[in-house]
Amino acid sequence: MDNKFELPAFNTENTGFSAQNVSSAEDLLHMGYSFMKLMSYYTCAMMEIETKFNVLNEEFSLLWDRQPISSIKTRLKDPLSIRNKLMKKGLPVDMKSIEENVNDVAGIRVVCSFIADVYMIAEAFKKQDDITVIEQKDYIAHPKQNGYRSLHLIVAVPIFLQHEKRIMKAEIQIRTIAMDFWASLEHQLRYKKADNFDDEMAADIKYCAALSAELDKHMDELRAKVYPAPPNEEDFLKQALQELPIFTGEKR
Ligand code: GTP
Ligand code: MG
Repeated sequence: MDNKFELPAFNTENTGFSAQNVSSAEDLLHMGYSFMKLMSYYTCAMMEIETKFNVLNEEFSLLWDRQPISSIKTRLKDPLSIRNKLMKKGLPVDMKSIEENVNDVAGIRVVCSFIADVYMIAEAFKKQDDITVIEQKDYIAHPKQNGYRSLHLIVAVPIFLQHEKRIMKAEIQIRTIAMDFWASLEHQLRYKKADNFDDEMAADIKYCAALSAELDKHMDELRAKVYPAPPNEEDFLKQALQELPIFTGEKR
């Protein structure tokens, strides 16, 4: 990728680009095009990864008679957030730096039904031979100080373009519905009302996290009773055969 064109710094009011790195309209056009091209590569990586999870969900839902994945959301980090993240770390704001230093330009959030599904889906994804796991953080086994829980992966995935293959990074968050519920509300409370978020509220939100973790544990115990072991194909087919009308003598 051509890294010749630097992203210009925003002016202090964040009202737009400053002209300091742009000497001509042509420069601006090239810079904008390079940035859009990079963003479209990240979009392709998100599509690849989303498909991989959809495929796993499809396969498991046939065997399990239920869907381990409840929803998948993807998001592309906006240019201002990318620039702010790099500036905060004192890193250069250019294409090369984005690719090297910002791991969450492409973000995929996979919301599962049960805790067991989170790990099962993560393992099935991680062992695919075109996926490289760069980093894993298990905030389920080790929740953050505020109570946040999720399984985080930073991965590299290839995308196949007309003339080249590119390896793109992405951040994947895998969590249960209860973890997602808590994280969404905590995010709203913390970011929207950060000024009046005092210690008591922090303790309260941590208490809610503990309640949601308890709920997840209970629901997973129920799941283990209903689905004691992961089905295998042989058992599944035997069971399905027994239920066919021809064997049960039922008339259609
Ligand atoms: P950054 O991307 O710079 O934050 O790197 P990091 O090393 O802190 O990454 P981490 O894996 O801890 O968090 C990455 C993402 O997880 C965040 O951008 C959020 O989407 C989510 N996340 C992490 N902590 C919290 C939290 O306390 N509350 C909520 N709601 N989301 C969180
Ligand atoms: Mg963070």
